[in-house]
Amino acid sequence: MATFTNADLRIRLLGPDDGHALIRLGVTDNLFDEDPSVEPSGALAYDAARSFLGDPTVLFWLAELGGETVGFLHCCIQRRRTAGPWAELLLMEMGTHADWRRRGIGRSLLAVMEEWMQGHGVEEVWVPANVYATGFYEKCGFAKDEGEILVKALG
Ligand SMILES: CC(C)(COP(=O)(O)OP(=O)(O)OC[C@H]1O[C@@H](n2cnc3c(N)ncnc32)[C@H](O)[C@@H]1OP(=O)(O)O)[C@@H](O)C(=O)NCCC(=O)NCCS
Repeated sequence: MATFTNADLRIRLLGPDDGHALIRLGVTDNLFDEDPSVEPSGALAYDAARSFLGDPTVLFWLAELGGETVGFLHCCIQRRRTAGPWAELLLMEMGTHADWRRRGIGRSLLAVMEEWMQGHGVEEVWVPANVYATGFYEKCGFAKDEGEILVKALG
């Protein structure tokens, strides 16, 4: 089993000039899925990747070990209409490469997200979690809330 120390892990927030990193992830993102045998979701065109990463409501962190992508975390900054903190985060998606799970990469990604929250006056983060990942989120301090997540797909 390959090993790493936390000092080897580099986590960076992507910006509009990092479109190629997002595109590379898109062609192998099945390896970051609960079931890596599914098809990858497919890469964006370069201009679309640039536009996505330039969106001020998008936070996208990449975790790298020796240049290899081993994890990612995508959050959406959601403005609040009420008094109190100006925004909260919606954790849209995260994944650790299947070969690198259970070695602290997911927890490290969340720690970087929390550091960002503390630096930006954001106090809450929500995640519509899949069942597989619930135990991970609970280990990292998330708690179940009331209600259910519903979805409607048109067409
Ligand atoms: C969920 C996921 C991101 C966790 O990443 P990871 O890098 O393996 O997590 P870590 O190694 O940082 O784990 C942190 C803690 O959670 C625990 N944990 C990790 N995955 C877990 C799981 N599926 N169920 C229960 N506990 C889990 C670890 O044992 C560890 O506990 P410890 O600190 O007491 O040792 C990873 O399994 C993954 O990519 N899954 C597929 C995609 C997915 O489900 N994403 C979430 C979508 S909502």
